Amino acid sequence: MLAAFLCTLALLASQSQSTPVQKVLEIPTPEAKPRPLHGRFLHITDLHPDPFYVPGTSTARACHRKIPKKKKNRAGYYGTPYAECDSPLRLTNYTLDFLEKNWAGEIDFVVWTGDNARHDDDNKLPRTPKEIYDLNRAVAKKMNSVFASKGIPVIPSLGNNDIWPHNILTPGPNGITNEFSLIWQSFIPFQYHQVFQRGAYYAVEVVPNALAVISLNTLYFYDSNKAVGGCSFNEPDDPGNLELDWLEVQLKIFRDRGMQVWLTGHVPPSSSNYFPECYVRYADLALKFQDTVVGHLYGHMNADHFFYVEAADLELDKDSPVNALKKGRDLYKSLLQEFALLPKSKKIDLDEYAIINVGPSVVPNPLPTFRIFTYNITGVDDAVVDGSPVQQMDTPKERLPKGSKASQCEEERYRDTWKCKLEFNPPSDPNAPSRSSKLWTPLGYAQYFIPKLEDADKANHPRFKLEYTTFPAAMLRPAKGQNETEFRYPIPLKNLPKSIRKGEVKNKYFPYEMKDLTVGSWMDLARKLGDMSSSNSTHLRKKFRQFMYLEL
Ligand SMILES: *[C@@H]1O[C@H](CO)[C@@H](O)[C@H](O)[C@H]1NC(C)=O
Ligand SMILES: *[C@@H]1O[C@H](CO)[C@@H](O)[C@H](O)[C@H]1NC(C)=O
Ligand SMILES: *[C@@H]1O[C@H](CO)[C@@H](O)[C@H](O)[C@H]1NC(C)=O
Ligand SMILES: *[C@@H]1O[C@H](CO)[C@@H](O)[C@H](O)[C@H]1NC(C)=O
Repeated sequence: MLAAFLCTLALLASQSQSTPVQKVLEIPTPEAKPRPLHGRFLHITDLHPDPFYVPGTSTARACHRKIPKKKKNRAGYYGTPYAECDSPLRLTNYTLDFLEKNWAGEIDFVVWTGDNARHDDDNKLPRTPKEIYDLNRAVAKKMNSVFASKGIPVIPSLGNNDIWPHNILTPGPNGITNEFSLIWQSFIPFQYHQVFQRGAYYAVEVVPNALAVISLNTLYFYDSNKAVGGCSFNEPDDPGNLELDWLEVQLKIFRDRGMQVWLTGHVPPSSSNYFPECYVRYADLALKFQDTVVGHLYGHMNADHFFYVEAADLELDKDSPVNALKKGRDLYKSLLQEFALLPKSKKIDLDEYAIINVGPSVVPNPLPTFRIFTYNITGVDDAVVDGSPVQQMDTPKERLPKGSKASQCEEERYRDTWKCKLEFNPPSDPNAPSRSSKLWTPLGYAQYFIPKLEDADKANHPRFKLEYTTFPAAMLRPAKGQNETEFRYPIPLKNLPKSIRKGEVKNKYFPYEMKDLTVGSWMDLARKLGDMSSSNSTHLRKKFRQFMYLEL
């Protein structure tokens, strides 16, 4: 206890300076609770429960009042697909009960990326801080009973609708960080409590000494938060800068301990969401720590997609970063424009990319969904879970910076920007788990959804079904002649549709056929999607767009 306290003090001391301290700090190992690993975890996001939701009311009135004449304009019993309404508690409860029954015994941890209150879109019924906290308390209680109480770590992060007024969060400690430190008490490891009170970010070692999840508070990077400075270089005490200083120290510690890390949060790190200077610092860390970060998981967008941050975004002559992603319907178009710019024949330098995965929402806008990720645990035995490190990272090769920014950085407009202050000298490690398939590498995900939510009512319960998986069909079952008892099923057979269990290959479930989720595999997919000359790609783009907006 004392050691942990001193360590927290040491961390705080190191974080109060603007430049991160290089020294490695000893972090006490969490209590080792031996439990078998399954090599899977859940990513769930944007539940948006609404206690005022009334079935049968008008979708034009936030599903709160007035009975419209036309049936198609009425709120559904379990939720209203494709409408601007939040979720009835019936749906959020149903989802978590479904996960408890079908998945709690099959996963190792839960990444839960925020927005557990309704939107503020009913003038007659404005939100209050109390309502927002009550909803968050209710969902946290349920997450605790469904997962955490069974020993499954849950890692929540703060959404832009989890605070009042929405989007606005002042530097902590404040009432909001205090309240959430209580609401999430059972999820935040003791040694992070003080850091959390300051900024609402923390880390959890989901496999002690081997694999961690960092929960970021993206509100300090989000350009809709007018209460913060947006990581300006000249404001070392800006909460976004302090958070990124902290992140860099954490990543160094995890790297030195030979660990791998998932970065998670609510608002995804795109240049259209983040303040420009926060975006530059995030992209810089994502690339510098490509050897330590196995992936990036976010929510907020209510659209299934992926994108990348890239080294080009750190160059000076680019006034706007490459991925100036648009919102809503235009997001698809801007992603495709981005993918189409990738060099066709030239080999891509994979050191220069980090992949951001954005999961779709539970709130049925468009439809309720969740994702189960599978990751490589080959060779892991109880030793890992007991807390002895199993892996030594290969020493990263240092690359020399390309060209010199020196003269341009003399110019007034560039002088005090992060692009000129950061030394971009990323280590290159093609053998890292984010780059080649090995222990801790994400292998794929299966996405589940409720396709006919509008048909569900008192008598007919909704049903989650497999929407698609990133795997090729052949990876889901043992090959002919392979020993079935020794085969590690990426997705438990019982959670797959009957046709797949019987060994049939229905193409609709296998749109991408990715052998793993390494940076290279994602960039291959991005290149295929961006290839305007092949007819196969036309088909692929159609599917990608369907998944984004669920136009079935
Ligand atoms: C949802 O679940 C909670 C806790 O299990 C329960 O108290 C509440 O009544 C449920 N609400 C609905 C609408 O089912
Ligand atoms: C998992 O990692 C092991 C070695 O760490 C590797 O041999 C194996 O091919 C990987 N599995 C998959 C499915 O990629
Ligand atoms: C399959 O593996 C199991 C467990 O390792 C072993 O007991 C069994 O003999 C194997 N079966 C065959 C046909 O090799
Ligand atoms: C298109 O797909 C078919 C079948 O999967 C494959 O044989 C062919 O090589 C692909 N063509 C291109 C240009 O990728």
